[in-house]
Amino acid sequence: MTDTATLFAQFRAKHPGIRADYTIDQDWQHYTREEHATWRTLYGRLERLLPDYACPEFVDGMHRLDIGHDAIPEFTELSRRLGALTGWSVVAVPGLVPDDIFFEHLANRRFPAGNFIRKPDQLDYIEQPDVFHDVFGHVPMLAHPVFADYMQAYGKGGLRALKGFDKLSNLARLYWYTVEFGLIRTASGLKIYGAGIASSTAETVYAIDDPSPNRIAFDLERVMRTKYRIDDFQETYFVIDNFEQLFRETYSDFAPVYERLESGPTYEPGTVLPSDSIVHRGTGAYAAGKALSTAHQAGKSPAA
Ligand SMILES: [Fe+2]
Repeated sequence: MTDTATLFAQFRAKHPGIRADYTIDQDWQHYTREEHATWRTLYGRLERLLPDYACPEFVDGMHRLDIGHDAIPEFTELSRRLGALTGWSVVAVPGLVPDDIFFEHLANRRFPAGNFIRKPDQLDYIEQPDVFHDVFGHVPMLAHPVFADYMQAYGKGGLRALKGFDKLSNLARLYWYTVEFGLIRTASGLKIYGAGIASSTAETVYAIDDPSPNRIAFDLERVMRTKYRIDDFQETYFVIDNFEQLFRETYSDFAPVYERLESGPTYEPGTVLPSDSIVHRGTGAYAAGKALSTAHQAGKSPAA
């Protein structure tokens, strides 16, 4: 049995109605009052912060879609509003889906969103993306026509990458440093557009205000060579000038890029290169403090 088949069998045990494309009915009625209250708490905290920290396109998407101030949104209704703007829809899935399924959904302008929500004691961190991360974090930007096209192009690029290249980890870095943790220059300074930041109160403030992380101008190949942190704040954020730049620089045949990536370096998350166009050179204090405390817990000095 392949990993994919095992995953599907696990999902089917819990969701007998799961379809071959891993979608399930959202079954909005199953959410409890406590789950809607969790959404409301998370929404309320970020609603206060994001007008100052997120790019205008994100805030505009939140408002135009009326994402859901009081309760977890109903996907059919949300998709109707989103579809009218950019042709995208939101479909429910039980958790992370295999790469080919994920790319296929994006390539067809469907965003797969987890239909479950975190527990009240997981407000600040959850390992698996839940409905709050997926819908509140990702869907506002899908109302922006250029970003919506970028996401579809990413899905198509992913399907191509699966067919002839062994470069999924490089492609995942592009997604990570743009769709999840991207920053953008605006007339009023750096702002957030990445869902991983925008769905986290703490990282929203850290990504913009903290002197620790590097903020480096976006460069496709540089991004694809850079590892990322999955369990903590990022050590580096990549900054785009505008969404047209993001689309233009990534809407191309990646074959020559993949060829170059066959050799050459892979960079650690905090690396700064002489060739980088640096927006802000990070102090690295946050990551250094974490390393120190980890070493302390292990009973040794970091240099040991
Ligand atoms: Fe995400």
